[in-house]
Amino acid sequence: MALRFAVSLFAICSASIATAPPLDPVRTLYEFPKDSYIENIAVRSNGQILMTDLSKSELFLFDPSVAGSNTPILLHDFDESLGLAGIAEYQPDVFAVISGNYSFTSTVQVVGTWKVWSVDLRGVGITTENGQAKLSSPPVVKKIAHVKPAHFLNGLTVLSEADQTLLISDVNGGLIWSLDIKTGSYEVAINNTFTALYSSPPFSASGVDGVHVRGDSAYFTNFGNGTFNKVLINEDGTPAGPVTTIANTKGPLDQYDDFTFDCDGNAFVVTGGGNTIEMISADGKTQVYIAGNLNSTAIAEPTSCAFGRGPHDRHILYVVTAGGMETPVNGNTIIGGQLVAVKTTSRGSAC
Ligand SMILES: *[C@@H]1O[C@H](CO)[C@@H](O)[C@H](O)[C@H]1NC(C)=O
Ligand SMILES: *[C@@H]1O[C@H](CO)[C@@H](O)[C@H](O)[C@H]1NC(C)=O
Ligand SMILES: *[C@@H]1O[C@H](CO)[C@@H](O)[C@H](O)[C@H]1NC(C)=O
Ligand SMILES: *[C@@H]1O[C@H](CO)[C@@H](O)[C@H](O)[C@H]1NC(C)=O
Repeated sequence: MALRFAVSLFAICSASIATAPPLDPVRTLYEFPKDSYIENIAVRSNGQILMTDLSKSELFLFDPSVAGSNTPILLHDFDESLGLAGIAEYQPDVFAVISGNYSFTSTVQVVGTWKVWSVDLRGVGITTENGQAKLSSPPVVKKIAHVKPAHFLNGLTVLSEADQTLLISDVNGGLIWSLDIKTGSYEVAINNTFTALYSSPPFSASGVDGVHVRGDSAYFTNFGNGTFNKVLINEDGTPAGPVTTIANTKGPLDQYDDFTFDCDGNAFVVTGGGNTIEMISADGKTQVYIAGNLNSTAIAEPTSCAFGRGPHDRHILYVVTAGGMETPVNGNTIIGGQLVAVKTTSRGSAC
């Protein structure tokens, strides 16, 4: 069986014989300064990692193939916004990114501030100058749309690469929008009791959070309701059948946030305040924690995850975290948002 908990691993380690293999399922690659809420992650085809920060309007680039100390490079600062959320690749090396005004500390106008941008990374690399890593050139950033009625755009997925359309969750609006990248026009695609708002302290009432299209279905979590759901969809993203709930959260502090699939269709869902990664098998029959522990900062309040795409890291699940900023570990421990690498037995996201 896969090793389940970092803390129980330490117990096994210290109690067992010296010939035991090194147990290192969770490795911190980088810890951001305190009060960094790293919200979402995407991986370029060259293996470099993109991370969005909800507590700042900064988009970061990180190369996991560089050994030793490695600091994320600022790719772009969307300085008219207070934070960033979902990110997804909608053309080879071109990413859609959500920005808006979410505030953790003060009351700011949140509704009406949500925009979707295009960040074109074609030709953008990392070079070294005087021992300092920097971008070879800046990305081309353009606004796709201002989704004025949205309450809090959060998760983002490509609906159709051919049609250049996206599905976007509105976690405080309790519904899923579709967006046409070419025209910037948007419509409500899915709005029902499965996407709706449910009480979710310490956050305000929250609904649909992570959303991903796989095959002819949309899969989505509901943060407040603690569910992982599936629905067959039409070409325009509207439901083509009833919604099925595949799984419910297991632990009292678990909050299903974003997720990803491996190539066999198993879902890897982050549990927020549960501080773990849960694997839900493709048939929905197995639901198991594969990394982290409720009482450990190893994966402190995870928000999103994605498999590696480099030659050597396809089985590595990269996870970003909020560091316990909203749900402190053990009720009192907050660290900086993290980028952690979780070794899995999966073949990665591409078969
Ligand atoms: C977001 O907040 C910033 C800083 O308070 C402000 O300058 C900006 O106009 C706000 N953006 C929107 C879209 O309201
Ligand atoms: C979503 O559905 C609810 C409940 O039916 C409805 O009240 C609300 O107006 C819908 N929202 C939008 C933006 O269509
Ligand atoms: C989830 O939603 C269902 C249907 O609305 C409801 O019966 C259930 O109580 C909700 N559970 C939680 C934890 O919100
Ligand atoms: C976490 O700590 C609580 C309180 O100390 C304890 O009851 C619980 O069993 C621990 N959970 C895990 C998963 O280790």
